[in-house]
Amino acid sequence: MEFIRVRKSGPLKGEVTIEGAKNTALPILAATILTKEETIITDIPPLKDIEIMLDVLRSLGADVERLDDKSVRIHVKEIKTHITPFELMNKMRASFLVMGPLLSRLGKAVNGLPGGCQIGERPIDLHLKGFRALGANIEERMDEISVDVDGKLKGGTIYLDFPSVGATENLMMAAVLAEGETVIENAAKEPEIVDLSNFLSKLGSKIRGAGTSTIVIEGVNELKGARHRVIPDRIEAATYMVAAAISKGDVLVKNVIASHIRPVIAKLKEMGVDIIEDPDEDEIRVRVTKELVGTNVRTLPYPGFPTDVQSQIMTLMTVAKGDSVVEETVFENRFMHVEELRKMHALIVTDGNEARIVGVPNLTGAMVKATDLRAGASLIIAGLVAEGNTDIYDTYHIYRGYHNVIEKFRALGADIELINK
Ligand code: UD1
Repeated sequence: MEFIRVRKSGPLKGEVTIEGAKNTALPILAATILTKEETIITDIPPLKDIEIMLDVLRSLGADVERLDDKSVRIHVKEIKTHITPFELMNKMRASFLVMGPLLSRLGKAVNGLPGGCQIGERPIDLHLKGFRALGANIEERMDEISVDVDGKLKGGTIYLDFPSVGATENLMMAAVLAEGETVIENAAKEPEIVDLSNFLSKLGSKIRGAGTSTIVIEGVNELKGARHRVIPDRIEAATYMVAAAISKGDVLVKNVIASHIRPVIAKLKEMGVDIIEDPDEDEIRVRVTKELVGTNVRTLPYPGFPTDVQSQIMTLMTVAKGDSVVEETVFENRFMHVEELRKMHALIVTDGNEARIVGVPNLTGAMVKATDLRAGASLIIAGLVAEGNTDIYDTYHIYRGYHNVIEKFRALGADIELINK
């Protein structure tokens, strides 16, 4: 059985280069379905989730050519089927992102219900509510959803009850080829939305307001080809920043956009971490020269503190002096890492969506499970400062979001290896 073994390591030192953002690459790849012309997407991270999305595109009829491990040429001259194979859908929740583009270009789409990390219920009601507002008929079956429209989608006003990232993306992609104007209110404002909007604009879409809570889209008849480079992964960057901090290291994080991780920078500074930004170079140096102290974090939609960095910062809090509180407001079941951290002798008490953490001088290695992608990363971070071996099982979750994670940590001086027994 495969597991990752981490041993107590000294301060991490050196440089780490961040990949393109998985969560931006996925919707952008889905959006390539919208045009009959060729698109080239570069800086996509070489990850399993990306492979799944490329397989989804192939299954729909896309001609996918790998230019190198981070670039791909896609040509969807004709869509062969509007049905996404159930097994692909089941592997990754984000496969649902092809629904908007399929509906937009073809007028129909059938998808299984989405899989992915089991963090909370993760319904798709907002995606469906939006499709309906654009004139689509929706039929929900046992484990399948069928969406179609008589003629073309028609622009409409959609108010999202929650600024869902996926719903905003799906609806933007549905609206770009709809007739007339679509307004998405209470839209998500994440950098991923802005990057998707930039790509859609290169294709010839007419979009205003991406990055604010009101996005306005004027439908066009046809889109053209384009070339696009994916933005850096703010969550991968934040993960290495927290790892540098917990190890009391000195690490230069390269290919990062500081303005995308303001709340992470602010909270690390509050805890006593030195953050030195070099905006011209897209680099951030993270250094610790003094004892770290606890703080409070509440996860929120962007520009609030990202839920995808919640488990990592909580891990840092477990060894920071004093008490900390973490409140998770985005997902209702995102404390699965707490039990694993407790196995490592972290002092954490949860009450609903709130966790109280009392800093301890040391963690202890244990056999633990990566319960989801980010939780897995937080266990690597914990292992860096735990006495003895931290053996992390269910490693596949970690690979879904972190390219070359072992090599990158090892290059920074971490004592980490993949073991197969
Ligand atoms: C995306 C990210 C994920 C991140 C999350 C929140 C991708 C591939 N994944 O996921 O890493 O953790 O944003 O930043 O980009 N919700 C509904 N109804 C819906 C849709 C969502 O109630 O129709 C709820 C969800 O259950 C959840 C919250 O909204 O509680 C946030 O979900 P959403 O923003 O949609 O996350 P994803 O797009 O799935």
